[in-house]
Amino acid sequence: MAIVTSTEMFKKAYEGGYAIGAFNVNNMEIIQGITEGAKMENAPVILQVSAGARKYAKHVYLMKMIEAAVQDTDLPIVVHLDHGPDFETCKSCIDGGFSSVMIDGSHLPFEENIAQTKRVVEYAHDHGVVVEAELGRLAGVEDDVKVSAEDSSYTQPDEVEEFVSRTGCDSLAIAIGTSHGAYKFKGEPKLRFDILEEVGRRLPGFPIVLHGASSVIPEYVDMINEFGGKMPGAQGVPEDMLRKAATMAVCKINIDSDLRLAFTGLVRKHFAEHPDHFDPRQYLTDARTGIRDMVRHKIVDVLGCNGKA
Ligand code: G3H
Ligand code: 13P
Ligand code: ZN
Repeated sequence: MAIVTSTEMFKKAYEGGYAIGAFNVNNMEIIQGITEGAKMENAPVILQVSAGARKYAKHVYLMKMIEAAVQDTDLPIVVHLDHGPDFETCKSCIDGGFSSVMIDGSHLPFEENIAQTKRVVEYAHDHGVVVEAELGRLAGVEDDVKVSAEDSSYTQPDEVEEFVSRTGCDSLAIAIGTSHGAYKFKGEPKLRFDILEEVGRRLPGFPIVLHGASSVIPEYVDMINEFGGKMPGAQGVPEDMLRKAATMAVCKINIDSDLRLAFTGLVRKHFAEHPDHFDPRQYLTDARTGIRDMVRHKIVDVLGCNGKA
């Protein structure tokens, strides 16, 4: 098996009423934990790399480790640029072997978002790479950019057909009330399923992407707080809402914060229980195993893509 695009995966996911997990990767243990979990559940998987991840780990290291994961697991794996900020970053990832890129023009006016997305689509399609675009704007923190709730905006369904047909993008991220990070809702979690439904009606068969989809699993938040951390009021998207979205037009569900929480909680727990340890292989084994188990849970209980590789 080689690195693949998401085209076939999304087609099957749409028809089958499930979604593919898109997990953010920043180091070897995260890549191994995710792909070991996917292997155990025989699930297709998207490994996504942000601009910040490329800066932290370097493109070539992440690429080579993902190639190793493909060789090791023999699974269909997509390598995707998450929140590509501009044409140049997308081009660099396309030239550097990614099979999918996101161009995030969600902060731009409609026409500028279209122009930028179209430029990326032309270059990507010439190189056999698929493109995710975004309409509407999520709240929360990505890299160092914080989008306040007031500056966030729901996707307007009456814009999606024109946007997709004029840009030629292969999938579309929409804003229905999720947000990035570990603090998604104050009070009752609420997602605009009516917007998702209307977008699905206007774009039949077209894959929709849900960002900001970590559930902020209480077990890991509690673990962090029990072992010396401080995460008051963290709250994510309830898993039954994600499950529902996966049965609708959503084919890709983005998860990063849950990986960070599991990793951090388990490292904190390890040190609390073994204050004398100083070998990174000991505490990183706990983190990697925890990520593997959390990813298995997402695949089976939330995404429904187990057995679909
Ligand atoms: O949506 C953003 C992802 O969680 C990536 O975060 O830019 O800090 O790597 P990052
Ligand atoms: P979370 O912060 O909810 O994990 O969202 C991740 C994401 O959308 C990556 O693009
Ligand atoms: Zn995102």
